[in-house]
Amino acid sequence: MGHTLERIKAIQLQERIIDAELAASWIQDGMTLGLSGFTRAGDAKAVPLALIKRAETESFKVNVFTGASLGSDIDRLFAEAGIVGKRLPFQADPVMRRKINEGEMLFVDHHLSQTAEWIKAGVIEPIDFAIIEALGITEDGLIIPTTSVGNSALFVQYAKNVIVEINTAQPALFEGIHDIYDTGKQGDRLPIPLTRVDDRIGVPGIPVDLEKVRGIVFTHQPDSPSTIAAADEETEQMAEHLLNFLRSEVRAGRLTERLAPLQSGIGTVANAVLHGLLDSEFDDLEVYSEVLQDAVFELIDAGKVRFASSSSITLSEEKMKQVYGNFEKYRDKLILRPQEISNHPEIIRRLGLISINTALEFDIYGNVNSTHVSGTKMMNGIGGSGDFARNARLSIFVTKSIAKGGRISSVVPFATHIDHTEHDVDIVVTEQGYADLRGLAPRERAARIIENCVHPMYKEKMQDYYAEALARGGQTPHVLEQAFSWHARLAQTGTML
Ligand code: COA
Repeated sequence: MGHTLERIKAIQLQERIIDAELAASWIQDGMTLGLSGFTRAGDAKAVPLALIKRAETESFKVNVFTGASLGSDIDRLFAEAGIVGKRLPFQADPVMRRKINEGEMLFVDHHLSQTAEWIKAGVIEPIDFAIIEALGITEDGLIIPTTSVGNSALFVQYAKNVIVEINTAQPALFEGIHDIYDTGKQGDRLPIPLTRVDDRIGVPGIPVDLEKVRGIVFTHQPDSPSTIAAADEETEQMAEHLLNFLRSEVRAGRLTERLAPLQSGIGTVANAVLHGLLDSEFDDLEVYSEVLQDAVFELIDAGKVRFASSSSITLSEEKMKQVYGNFEKYRDKLILRPQEISNHPEIIRRLGLISINTALEFDIYGNVNSTHVSGTKMMNGIGGSGDFARNARLSIFVTKSIAKGGRISSVVPFATHIDHTEHDVDIVVTEQGYADLRGLAPRERAARIIENCVHPMYKEKMQDYYAEALARGGQTPHVLEQAFSWHARLAQTGTML
């Protein structure tokens, strides 16, 4: 117990240790929960799992707001238990995805930097319980987060009640790497004083009104490892194209070999593309992102990345052991920030980020769909990709040119759902090549995308579509009745071919 109490330095809270079942019993039907957790890192684990257990004998629904996706199978178990009324702002679980698409639960797919504004302005349901994973609580009442910050500081500030989960399996050396800054409310704000990736502008933990802390639960459960697959031939080709593009920027004098702060999205492709920087001439790099995956730590190990700022760290099992087992080596090279800051348009624009995110599909004019399979079925969500894409110095989207063994072309005549419009997309990359769309009119863009990015299986078909579209004319020519015909054929016959 002595060891346990050391984690709660605010002594008036030491008597509030409870078990997860008691905490879960306070949550009532219709309540809204603000859970810590961002891309499988730093999620509250014990209380959500106890709540899911309660659903075996009770019927209720709660709204679940988080930073981003949850680990520990919690999104899956929430979905299977059928206890989520509304989920916001991001998820990435196959079972939850199915329930959303079957209309059994509601999902609000939201820019990750903007949930903060909705909560501060009282637009969405007020948070009844913030449930926040922590390393401990300091004497002066700061909750020290673990492997992510996400929306935790916001939830703590705005929730009626706070439950803290102190997780003794998380690396204690994380204390000191967080930087919590409150932007305040809109209309009453100063510029965010962050001008360099490694600037510290806030405090090392989340300030909490001690009166609101209803209970503290102890847990000992590591984060779930990430699920990214290793680089393959196509992702290596994409990385090579991207590097060639960056080299051409250096040659043109628009970048140096230090590049500009890098942001890379979630998933296998984005990780593989960053991995490609390992064997490049680029050096002394900085990362300003919302999630750090394995590749960033490989780049730190190789001496290529000088500093990385993020809102979470999500690693494969092997990488987690290596990084968390030697964390003193990384501590002075990392900052974890609230997602409102890691993804803030003001900072992204000021730092001039190179932003690399993944598309499900893009069209011949450069509109990008990152979220909806065939325009209707939710995949994961827009996440932070919109925060970055619109505001970055270079907004780059990557995707393999085909999916499902070639039955799907990821370059299509007209994107069936548009998350990132042609106005927000600078460069698109597939394993076939890249198209730099900056300064191009729609007709120039289409020609370049068809030439450089479309898979040979689909190239002629696309040329035919575009020729017919051109015959009809327009600033952005289309054959409207055929614009979605590739998707319609996929639905009817199982292939776009
Ligand atoms: N139509 C249908 N399915 C497609 C597709 C398309 N055009 N393109 C890819 N897919 C499928 C793949 O076949 C794969 O399916 P599987 O899981 O059954 O194997 C799945 O989508 C994932 O594709 P993959 O190529 O492995 O890419 P990924 O793991 O990098 O994920 C996204 C790609 C787009 C789903 C993912 O990056 C995402 O959710 N992005 C949006 C949010 C975001 O960008 N956040 C980051 C901001 S920091």
